[in-house]
Amino acid sequence: MVDGAAWIAHRSRRVLLVDRIAVTDKQTIDAYNTRVNEYAELTQRDRPGRYLKRFMDRLAPSSHVLDLGCGPGQASVHLLAAGHQPDPVDASAEMVNLANRESGLNARQATFDDMSGHALYDGVWANFSLLHVQKSDFPRHLSAVHGALKPGGLFHIGMKLGAGEKRDRLDRFYSYYLEDELLGHLRDAGFAPDQIDKGEEMGLAGDIDPWIMVLSNA
Ligand SMILES: C[S@@+](CC[C@H](N)C(=O)[O-])C[C@H]1O[C@@H](n2cnc3c(N)ncnc32)[C@H](O)[C@@H]1O
Repeated sequence: MVDGAAWIAHRSRRVLLVDRIAVTDKQTIDAYNTRVNEYAELTQRDRPGRYLKRFMDRLAPSSHVLDLGCGPGQASVHLLAAGHQPDPVDASAEMVNLANRESGLNARQATFDDMSGHALYDGVWANFSLLHVQKSDFPRHLSAVHGALKPGGLFHIGMKLGAGEKRDRLDRFYSYYLEDELLGHLRDAGFAPDQIDKGEEMGLAGDIDPWIMVLSNA
C-alpha cells in the first residue's frame, strides 16, 4: 500500500512530468526529427552569417554561450571556431545526433524547461527556437534566459513577425509577435534591447515569412 506522503510525492512528480511534455510540443519536435537533413541543408553556411557575426563581435574572448534550440548546431560550430565555448541544446534527439556526428559539439538533448541555473553564460543565442513556445509560456522562458545570463550578458533572439499562434503545414506550433509586443516582453524580463533587424526568408515549410532579430543586454 502507498502511504499518504509517498502518494502525494508520486502524484506531484506525475503532474510535473505532464506539464513538461505539454510545453515541449511533440508535433513540432517530430517535424524536426523527421527533417533533420533537409533543415541542415537549408541552413548550412561555411561562414557565420551577418547576425551571428554581429553577436560574436560583442562577445568577450572565450565566452560561454548557450545555443538554445541549436538545431544542427551551425551557430555553435562558428562560435567554437571563433574561440568561444558553446553549449548547444535542443529537444530534438535527431538534431542533437547530427550536431554531434558532424561536428563533435557535445550538444545535449534538453528542452527550454530544463533551463535553470544562475549567471552561467556570457551570451545566449536563441535563433528561431523560442517561437515554438506558447505565448503564455514565453515570459517565463525569457526570465529563465535572463537568470541564466551573467549580469550584462548578451542575448540574441530571432522570431517570426505577426500575430497569434498557429501550426504550419509541417504541424509545427508557432507563436508570432509584433515588434512592440516582443520588445515589451524583453523589457519586462529585464533586457535592454538595442539592435533590431527585420527581414523575410523562406523556411522549411516553403513559405516566405517576415522575421525579427533583437540583440539585448541582460
Ligand atoms: C527553426 S529551428 C532553429 C535551429 C537553429 N537555432 C538555427 O538557427 O538553425 C528550431 C529548433 O528549436 C528546437 N525546439 C523546439 N521546441 C523546443 C523546446 N521546447 N526545447 C528545446 N528545443 C526546442 C527544435 O527542435 C529545432 O531544432
